Amino acid sequence: MRVAPLVERPDLVEQVSAWGFAEWGHLNPDQTLEQRTARIRGKMNVDRVPVAFVALDEEDRIVGTASLIFDDLDGDPRNPWLASVFVPPEHRKKGIASALVRTVEDAARRFGYSRLYLFTSSAPALYTGLGWRALEQRDYRGEHIQVMDKSL
Ligand SMILES: CC(C)(COP(=O)(O)OP(=O)(O)OC[C@H]1O[C@@H](n2cnc3c(N)ncnc32)[C@H](O)[C@@H]1OP(=O)(O)O)[C@@H](O)C(=O)NCCC(=O)NCCS
Repeated sequence: MRVAPLVERPDLVEQVSAWGFAEWGHLNPDQTLEQRTARIRGKMNVDRVPVAFVALDEEDRIVGTASLIFDDLDGDPRNPWLASVFVPPEHRKKGIASALVRTVEDAARRFGYSRLYLFTSSAPALYTGLGWRALEQRDYRGEHIQVMDKSL
């Protein structure tokens, strides 16, 4: 398995968008699949934020995705954010999300950031295990979320 910037694999934009739409579409109820796809195309960078990554198996098939973005929580002044970490059910528990998170951390460090943020409602333990610190909890768009950070 390896992690590559999405810009290397433009053929995977629709898959990344479909996963995100199914998993987090309810957080942005006014956003269509087409609008999400357009936003993801805007993350096809290598040397600046925002940047999307894909995890690829030995046969170069997509097995996960994660992004580094500037803003994530509406109205929150902190930045940048690790976002949209997703691994399809059949590929979970093999360390793929961990590899994606580390790649995003490395990218943020390379771009000169000293701290990275995320919020999650589903997997705080995943990030705790990767050295992230729990900050505040709050309700956000109908979900109870945990905000976390990591010093880079
Ligand atoms: C959460 C998710 C990304 C984890 O992907 P994964 O590739 O299975 O994660 P990893 O294999 O790297 O797991 C790393 C560690 O975190 C643990 N972990 C993974 N998902 C977890 C979860 N939901 N809750 C608690 N612990 C979790 C694993 O058990 C593993 O622990 P170990 O190293 O002690 O064995 C995946 O389940 C997913 O895409 N879920 C739906 C989307 C989602 O919730 N994304 C995160 C939102 S911020």
